[in-house]
Amino acid sequence: MNVNTCRESFPQHGCAYPEDRVMTDSLPSGLPAPRPPVDLRLDRPTPARMYDHFLGGKDNFAVDREAAERVKQAIPNTYEIVWENRFFLQRAVRYLAEAGIDQYLDLGTGLPTQGNVHEIAREIIPDARVVYVDNDPIVLAHGRSLLASSPGTTVITADMREPHAILGNADLRALIDFSRPVAVLFVARGVMTSGSYLVLSHLTTDGPPPAAVARTVEVYESATSPIVFRTRNQIAQLFDGFTLQRPGLVRPWQWRPEPTDTMHTKWLYAGVAQITDTPTGRQ
Ligand SMILES: C[S@@+](CC[C@H](N)C(=O)[O-])C[C@H]1O[C@@H](n2cnc3c(N)ncnc32)[C@H](O)[C@@H]1O
Repeated sequence: MNVNTCRESFPQHGCAYPEDRVMTDSLPSGLPAPRPPVDLRLDRPTPARMYDHFLGGKDNFAVDREAAERVKQAIPNTYEIVWENRFFLQRAVRYLAEAGIDQYLDLGTGLPTQGNVHEIAREIIPDARVVYVDNDPIVLAHGRSLLASSPGTTVITADMREPHAILGNADLRALIDFSRPVAVLFVARGVMTSGSYLVLSHLTTDGPPPAAVARTVEVYESATSPIVFRTRNQIAQLFDGFTLQRPGLVRPWQWRPEPTDTMHTKWLYAGVAQITDTPTGRQ
């Protein structure tokens, strides 16, 4: 089954894709990869499709919308939260591209939407390279044409908790040179050379009503992956070994805001940090 026949079968039958732990669009030689069937889990909500629904996208199914609506009952301003996060991601990528970063590893990509990482980076560095990684195979199904339609980008289906499998991927190695600075949008710090950046945003328990947090966690227990909230201190620890860039670990809307950014919630913290040989980075 190829991606076109797969799409035609949506939503009734789902798609068939390789079930390897790490799955890529093609073999390094360019030959199509073998495609044993894999279950897209249309019987359960997935975080990627729920996030797409929160953003206002159409790449989701009834099971995702039902779960997302239950989250919205607990958190009425989900739309603001997801766009606040998205705008932070875009500003952070623009900031890094302006600093000369031309290679990006985006862990937990989500479904393609407006202003994807390669589109933002390429406004400044036209040949910037981007590897997208998500554990939901639907991201590959859609990302194949929408994210990775241009040379210098690829989509990998893998679990970000297994960095060795991701980093050993031949398609990734063909695009990302870890001897040069790279921006990791979430985490893979073990392979990052001096000058590399970590971009991270994270849901927090510091701010939101505890009952709404508990309800949200409960909804995601029925999804294919759980949702995790952390305290601000726990999120700060994820930056250990990096130098946080100004303004530090803040609400996404406080991170180098632009006049058009109007979303102001208390559900997330975000920051951009650099690995440096010296204690100070680009401020
Ligand atoms: C909230 S979305 C974020 C999308 C995008 N990075 C953004 O900030 O707009 C989180 C994404 O992470 C993916 N994800 C969750 N757990 C993962 C894991 N263990 N490995 C890889 N991807 C994961 C989900 O499938 C989902 O697409």
